[in-house]
Amino acid sequence: MDRKQHWDQIYNSKAAEAVSWFQEHADYSLRLIHNTGLGKGAAIIDVGGGTSRLVDDLVAEGYADLSVLDLSSSALAVAKQRLGRHAGAIQWIEGDITKIKLPTNRFDIWHDRAVFHFLTEEADRHAYVEQVMRVVRPGGHVIIATFAADGPEKCSGLPVMRYQPEALHAEFGDAFRLLGHETETHLTPSGAKQQFNYCYCRIDNR
Ligand SMILES: C[S@@+](CC[C@H](N)C(=O)[O-])C[C@H]1O[C@@H](n2cnc3c(N)ncnc32)[C@H](O)[C@@H]1O
Repeated sequence: MDRKQHWDQIYNSKAAEAVSWFQEHADYSLRLIHNTGLGKGAAIIDVGGGTSRLVDDLVAEGYADLSVLDLSSSALAVAKQRLGRHAGAIQWIEGDITKIKLPTNRFDIWHDRAVFHFLTEEADRHAYVEQVMRVVRPGGHVIIATFAADGPEKCSGLPVMRYQPEALHAEFGDAFRLLGHETETHLTPSGAKQQFNYCYCRIDNR
């Protein structure tokens, strides 16, 4: 089964509120986006957004240039339906972040919760970093959350990489200035605790 089939099958067989990564509100992400200090016109992409409700809260707050990218058309269909009349205000992009060709210097904020950690092949991680460097404007912000070193070893049946903040930052390199990091204990819908690390960086002006 390829990656897309895997994720479509997950989203076709489980309610969005039942997946282990479900959050009623993506509070850490929202706060880190606010902390960038950018206004409501900031171009934001939620990479591997799936059925996350982050975009609902951003729309409600008046952010006007939002994109959600995911490999799974099933996930995007669920998110679009949930957003109803607001769905048209968002750019929905179906594709694999390691392969898709996105416009250069298009975004001010790159957000990824629980996607980068699925890239267990070095070539995929390299392609991901190249993508960030190309599509985030110089001076732009990058927020990435992965399972922490004491987080789960698998998610949705797939193996993941687990990172301490320094190791995650090292994957990205010196052009990414690490501004800070935070740890979140995420409570899954079944009541399990999962440790996440959030790293926030700024891309140096090139
Ligand atoms: C664990 S879920 C997290 C979803 C969302 N970020 C959240 O926090 O609710 C991982 C998401 O990444 C997507 N995904 C996995 N690999 C991907 C890839 N290579 N390119 C784009 N999306 C991917 C999956 O379809 C899924 O929606």
